[in-house]
Amino acid sequence: MTDHQEISLDWMSGEQCPPPSAELRPEIPHPARMYDYYLGGKDNFPADRAAAEQVLALSPLVRISALANRAFLQRAVRALAAEQGIRQFLDIGTGIPSAGNTHEIAQAVDPTAKVAYLDNDPIVLVHGRALLAGAQLGSVSVLQADLRDPEAILTDPAVRELLDLGKPVAVMLFAILHFIDDADDPYGIVRTLVDALPSGSYLALSHGTADFVDPAEASKGPAVYRSATAQLTMRSREQVLRFFDGLELLEPGLVTAPLWRPDQAPQDTDGQVAIWAGVARKP
Ligand SMILES: C[S@@+](CC[C@H](N)C(=O)[O-])C[C@H]1O[C@@H](n2cnc3c(N)ncnc32)[C@H](O)[C@@H]1O
Repeated sequence: MTDHQEISLDWMSGEQCPPPSAELRPEIPHPARMYDYYLGGKDNFPADRAAAEQVLALSPLVRISALANRAFLQRAVRALAAEQGIRQFLDIGTGIPSAGNTHEIAQAVDPTAKVAYLDNDPIVLVHGRALLAGAQLGSVSVLQADLRDPEAILTDPAVRELLDLGKPVAVMLFAILHFIDDADDPYGIVRTLVDALPSGSYLALSHGTADFVDPAEASKGPAVYRSATAQLTMRSREQVLRFFDGLELLEPGLVTAPLWRPDQAPQDTDGQVAIWAGVARKP
């Protein structure tokens, strides 16, 4: 067990602060905690809030986009579980637990559904342990892993103990690929994951874009993230579409998050939510 796994969860009550930890690095903005702040969560530090406020000052729509992304995740998981019959989920870049987590949505459809949560931020692991307390025993794992090493994810004994990779799996990459630099070969990473899974598996993803932003403004958000633990690489619709090469996109295709099978008539239009969203089946 590593140091960060020893961190007490008492502070989850909000009455105590987490003990200092080099790995939590509270003085450095973390994308998971900035995202938590956008969503209105309390699991963030002053450095996270300051960086998030800088981003929001540049683009107030980031908060709307984060909420729309989270709502898309929930609709996508429900569709995968209820309509496509998926019972295994590999949710990479889980983030700090929020309302309506993957296992809650999937297990509302089928209590036996299994979810492996993976994130490279130790704070997600800390929160994940609290999350596990309420989950079906043996049906959820929270693991520390880096998407940039997909082979390690696929061969992780804990992943393989929970999920049968010989049966269909939904790979979930929600709001994470924009933290993968081109130099780390994001397309190769996605291909490695999808190639390892059988026909009938799914790729569900969302991805930040600057398609709706004035080009002069487009570099300012990523500039804030340069001081954080991950860099931000926005991609165009065409670039995001490439992640689905060889796969069959479910209706309505690759659209902005609010337009993916909305529960109600969507109020947002292109330009309000800068997140491309899609779900595809491996033939
Ligand atoms: C914006 S949050 C998204 C959370 C959740 N997937 C959602 O859409 O609501 C992005 C998450 O990706 C994680 N992340 C960023 N780069 C990663 C990497 N290389 N490997 C694993 N996780 C990563 C961050 O720690 C963060 O928790």
